[in-house]
Amino acid sequence: VSRAPHRFFDERVSGERVSDELPPVLEPVRADLERVGAAYARLLSEVSHRTGEVVQPAALFTGKRLRPALTCLAARFGERGVTEPVAQVAAIVEMIHTATLVHDDVLDGAEVRRKVATLNSRWGNDLAVLAGDVLFAKAYLAAARLEDRFASRYLAEVVGEVLEGEIHQDLVSRNPDLGEAEYRAIVRGKTAALYEAALVVGSRYGGAPEALGRTLGRYGHHVGMAFQIVDDRLDVTGDEATVGKTLGRDLSEGKTTLPLILWLQARPAAERAEARALLEAAWDDEERARLLARRLAADGALRAADAVALSEIEHAVVCLEALPAGPDRTLLHRIAHYVVARVR
Ligand code: FPP
Ligand code: MG
Repeated sequence: VSRAPHRFFDERVSGERVSDELPPVLEPVRADLERVGAAYARLLSEVSHRTGEVVQPAALFTGKRLRPALTCLAARFGERGVTEPVAQVAAIVEMIHTATLVHDDVLDGAEVRRKVATLNSRWGNDLAVLAGDVLFAKAYLAAARLEDRFASRYLAEVVGEVLEGEIHQDLVSRNPDLGEAEYRAIVRGKTAALYEAALVVGSRYGGAPEALGRTLGRYGHHVGMAFQIVDDRLDVTGDEATVGKTLGRDLSEGKTTLPLILWLQARPAAERAEARALLEAAWDDEERARLLARRLAADGALRAADAVALSEIEHAVVCLEALPAGPDRTLLHRIAHYVVARVR
């Protein structure tokens, strides 16, 4: 079997330009991220040539590299710092994340991800699901090869939590009565759990004390919550070219996200029935969906959702107070604010 090397961060794949733009806030971890990129490329290079052809475009999903950056930063709080196992575990978390996105794009029928065509739009749903599974399998194999079983056990649990979040989301689709608490439980599973994990594994393999790892994990949880709240808000109003993925699908998929929840809650009693009717109409009618999106903006529901995201960031920042001061802590602080700056 030929084992063609696949490239991750900075090469052309299938003739397409891979964006190597690192968000400026992550510049101080560039060297660490290059090690993670090399570890990721090695994982992908173990895929056979024919399978690689299908999976390879996922390597184009370079994204913002927030999770690997957080893993490396967490490791810097340990006595070992960013060693090879840390680079590997960061690559493993990123690969799991990419696998969930490959599957998510199938479920959502999305055409664009991280500014490139999704695997489902290139190969169809059947191959895209299998390609996502290949990424999962590679990630688990790499975790099993680490020096201990921590990542294997812990990441298996986390993936279970991600799936619970996704299943929960599906079970409550087209439910106008979904409340904020249930929405938060979904977001915790589908997004915040893996953010938390990125920091927990980084601190563990960097050799940080367990208590520090838990604090870093809580910071990651809050950053992840804020990230998804912002993501859901951008789905309503974001510009696809800037955000780099298919947007505006949440409404037609019947996802009751935070702006909607807050908007429905804030309607005066006399307007409730009309508001609900508009939402129900928006599930199947693009014109009504556009009208609803305008209402969410005009009635302050987007701003209200942004405020919730900001309060998550404030919680994240409070966690940082328990960490030793220094440039790494400052950077975690900046990253937390960067996550919510996307809406501005
Ligand atoms: C993005 O949500 C999706 C996730 C955060 C997780 C998706 C996870 C799965 C589909 C489960 C995958 C399988 C396993 C085995 C874990 P979104 O659609 O709200 O965001 P988007 O706008 O980026 O698509
Ligand atoms: Mg999606």
